[in-house]
Amino acid sequence: MKTYNIAIVGLGNIGLEVYKNLLKNKKNILDKTGFKINVSHVCAKNFKKNRGVSIPKKIWMANPLDLPKIKNIDIIVELIGGSDGIAKKLVFASIKNGKHYVTANKELIAKHGDKLSILAEKNSVNLLFEASVAGGIPIIRSIKQGLVANKIKHIYGILNGTTNFILTEMEKKGSTFAEALKYAKAKGYAERNPFADLSGNDVACKISILSSICFGSKILNKDFLVEGISNIEILDILFAKKIGYRIKLLGIAEIVNNQIKQRVHPALIPADLDIANINGVTNAVVVDGEPIGRTIYEGAGAGKGPTASSVISDIASVMVGNDDFSFGLSPAAKKNYKLFNFRQHVSKYYLRFLVHDKPGVLSIITSVLAKNKISIQNLLQDPSESSLSNVMIITHRAMEKSIQGVIKILSKNKKLFKKIVMIRVRDESKL
Ligand code: HSE
Repeated sequence: MKTYNIAIVGLGNIGLEVYKNLLKNKKNILDKTGFKINVSHVCAKNFKKNRGVSIPKKIWMANPLDLPKIKNIDIIVELIGGSDGIAKKLVFASIKNGKHYVTANKELIAKHGDKLSILAEKNSVNLLFEASVAGGIPIIRSIKQGLVANKIKHIYGILNGTTNFILTEMEKKGSTFAEALKYAKAKGYAERNPFADLSGNDVACKISILSSICFGSKILNKDFLVEGISNIEILDILFAKKIGYRIKLLGIAEIVNNQIKQRVHPALIPADLDIANINGVTNAVVVDGEPIGRTIYEGAGAGKGPTASSVISDIASVMVGNDDFSFGLSPAAKKNYKLFNFRQHVSKYYLRFLVHDKPGVLSIITSVLAKNKISIQNLLQDPSESSLSNVMIITHRAMEKSIQGVIKILSKNKKLFKKIVMIRVRDESKL
């Protein structure tokens, strides 16, 4: 019976949880996989740090880059993060030295995943990253294995717990964005620098990975639309609610005319849709495949327990040997899809104009919309005592480039328009 020697790099919240669970669940893992595990090395910055668990000195390594050369290590588990720097050096050196590699590092995989999967195949090792997307939800393995019979046409979801928590707090408690962010930080849901979450960049990495797996495509990791939630105010959420929508930050990828239409942006979605009712730090992913149809996967998208669960499932897959292709197909079979030109996107749009409340403002808005052939479905002016007022509009279906044109023209008029917020409405899709 083979024993797998495992090296864990990074002993933060997640690394430590993986370490503890591997020790605690040795017997369970042996019963389920038929293999023994042994944490042979751990590596982090500071040995002396109080972690509430004693780490034997003999398994401690100071420099992660020494690990790939150590003969008896079978699997290297990287939990430090970052697309470059040490993580990049470590992954290339590990795979070249014949080590299986397990990581939660979405930036690394979204940026270098194509190259790495080729290298992994060449070196007959596994490169697995279940924990990089949607925390504890086994979405990658579900798509690669559970949905292997399917042609997947569409995937989308709530892939960031921090922003979903903030949007939920704003809606449920009427908090401002700043208050909700502060609360998220206090609860440990938002990092001290929450830029990657708020800007949509975190979701961008995740949807790039998912779309590559779903469509058998080379990773599309740049030049697609990525918008975050920093512009959204409580009154956008309340207006959306009044007319039957919720606002969620979505990562979306679908095949349209043999191109991949991939994007990250907040969207107004019908309040009665299951995914509109995914609240707090929970993530959810909808996958539409043929022949299965629509499926939805829901669970904790972040946190040490859920992430450790995914990391350990990758370790088990390496041992059992049932997950050879990182992206679910041989790297040589990956196709080169083009990105859909998002300026051609058609949907309804929510527009909010913060205006100086002067005669004629509304007619300027409506005439610019009319000139661009954009028709209005709903319109509301927020009653205000001050000289500033909000005008909210839902358009009928219009093309992205026309909407962008309208925003460009009106935002030039700084005297009248203080702020213009645009959020796409997603209510056409049956998904
Ligand atoms: N920061 C991420 C989130 C978790 O809030 O969902 C790690 O991907």
